[in-house]
Amino acid sequence: MTFDPIEIAPSILSADFSRLGEEIRAVEQGGASVIHVDVMDGQFVPNITIGIPVVASLRKATRLPLDVHLMIDRPERYVQEFVRAGADRVLVHQEATPHLDRALSMIREAGAQAGAVINPSTPVVTLSDVLDKVDTVLVMSVNPGFGGQKFIPIAFSKIRQLAEWRARYNADYRIAVDGGVDLDNIAQLAQAGANTFVAGTSVFHMPDAGAATRELKRAASKALSQRV
Ligand code: DX5
Ligand code: ZN
Repeated sequence: MTFDPIEIAPSILSADFSRLGEEIRAVEQGGASVIHVDVMDGQFVPNITIGIPVVASLRKATRLPLDVHLMIDRPERYVQEFVRAGADRVLVHQEATPHLDRALSMIREAGAQAGAVINPSTPVVTLSDVLDKVDTVLVMSVNPGFGGQKFIPIAFSKIRQLAEWRARYNADYRIAVDGGVDLDNIAQLAQAGANTFVAGTSVFHMPDAGAATRELKRAASKALSQRV
């Protein structure tokens, strides 16, 4: 498991699935810290992507940690299987289960790091009673379901609030942001307090995914060093 001060997490949703191994090697060389895997069920979000067998194949294709972002209804039903398949972190949506506390506990009991995710319309305060059970809070800056959407700026105030709580309560959760992250907003996001940056289009739709990863990391690291 890596603990980089700044993590770039390329989202393979925007990669070329016919050359997934090569795409992953490119972002590894560009300094990616983790691989972000978007699992969608056609219920919680209006799209269907990939599942457990793909996570198991990815586990053999890279030594980087795998973040598995579950955009599925009642994710607690599948936590154990994803961890068994090789997920290092499992991220579940606040909106997808009435039993978020239980889902987060199940992830840790299964031996992975736990993440809680909120949609753009979900107030950050809805996570305040589970913050001691999470290793990561993921703030969605698009409505989940698709890559390539426009960044929604409400994410900034949520990231600032989470950073303030993190400092006030001496907590150590990571603050991650997902959706529309690119070179135009990553510095501001790092200054607001985010330290894990999920990026699909701005990595895999660039001519050189490795170079794009490196540039995002450089921009975020520079902003972090200037954070007051
Ligand atoms: C959206 C997914 C994201 C998506 C990000 O539902 O959770 O991880 O792949 O893609 P970009 O960076 O293109 O917004
Ligand atoms: Zn995602």
